[in-house]
Amino acid sequence: MSRLTVNNQPVEYRLDPATPLLWALRDASNLTGTKYGCGTGHCGACTVDVDGRAVRSCQVPIGGIEGTYVTTIEGLSRERNHPLQLAFIAAEVPQCGFCIPGIIMTASVLLKHDADPGEAAIRGAIRNICRCGVYPRLIEAIQRAAR
Ligand code: FES
Repeated sequence: MSRLTVNNQPVEYRLDPATPLLWALRDASNLTGTKYGCGTGHCGACTVDVDGRAVRSCQVPIGGIEGTYVTTIEGLSRERNHPLQLAFIAAEVPQCGFCIPGIIMTASVLLKHDADPGEAAIRGAIRNICRCGVYPRLIEAIQRAAR
């Protein structure tokens, strides 16, 4: 059994400890906002916040993160949209939208550590792959959310 706190709720996963966090979130917790892209740690679609770090959940076995606090896109803001979500909507960032939850989770961790990131800092932090190529708009949105 692996005990975590997910979106401020205690969770006990009765799964093989080697199960990637991605699949625990999607299949056991029905938190399907966290996406499966490559499964190899490259694309970032599966990014969640684990204890304030942006983590590619397809690469993290639940048995290795006992006792951590996990935040997914569903838990980013409980009552209304997070400023990042509002900024992404205002800047019309999503095209197909598949990569956006992982990008927003990566950006939310960036803003925890850098309240006013410049373009270079954003480009350095957002290593997520977007096949639609919305990078210019997402940089604008992250800077808008930081204001
Ligand atoms: Fe995890 Fe691509 S699905 S990095």
